[in-house]
Amino acid sequence: MSQAEVGPERVLAAEFRTVMGRFATGVTVVTAVQDDFDHAMTANSFTSVSLEPPLVLVCVEVDSRFHEAVLDAGAWNVNVLDEAQRGRASWFATKGRPLVGQFDSTRTHRSPLTGALLLDEALVTLECRTQQIIRAGDHDILIGEVLEVDLIRPEGRPLLWFGSAYYQLGADIPRR
Ligand SMILES: Cc1cc2nc3c(=O)[nH]c(=O)nc-3n(C[C@H](O)[C@H](O)[C@H](O)COP(=O)(O)O)c2cc1C
Repeated sequence: MSQAEVGPERVLAAEFRTVMGRFATGVTVVTAVQDDFDHAMTANSFTSVSLEPPLVLVCVEVDSRFHEAVLDAGAWNVNVLDEAQRGRASWFATKGRPLVGQFDSTRTHRSPLTGALLLDEALVTLECRTQQIIRAGDHDILIGEVLEVDLIRPEGRPLLWFGSAYYQLGADIPRR
């Protein structure tokens, strides 16, 4: 079979999800404010893109409620979650959860740069302004200029996502 005949239809969505699930990641909650209303979404597609200038990206499903909010806002925060925050990760990944009061159980403060919420108990936070939006299938890739970073818990340990489940680092991994 020639390369021209090979297409993405060979890969089933479920198989693709399972394979990508073997790629272990951290977990973030991305926040944005739209018309004075606070939005959030759990995301593990977060990654760094460039050091100079500092750029990061996150992929946002076009059909999610968060998509319209973050595009409209033009600025957003990335909150990298601590291992104690599984509950927050699950909550902000729950489709159809009520948006009113969704931060009631989460301690936050507001970024003066982006206007969006920062989670008090995050490991680190990054405040970003949208630099570029690239449509890619059913997601948009948001590339953000990093305006501010905060190393909130230098001793903290990350929440991990692997095979559709949450984990934490083993006890044999030293704190640093
Ligand atoms: C660990 C984890 C990581 C996720 N990462 C992403 C992501 O990177 N991008 C995305 O669009 N959705 C991601 N999701 C799904 C969203 O969190 C979920 O669809 C969310 O409820 C969308 O919210 P909304 O439709 O209420 O805006 C992830 C879910 C989980 C559990």
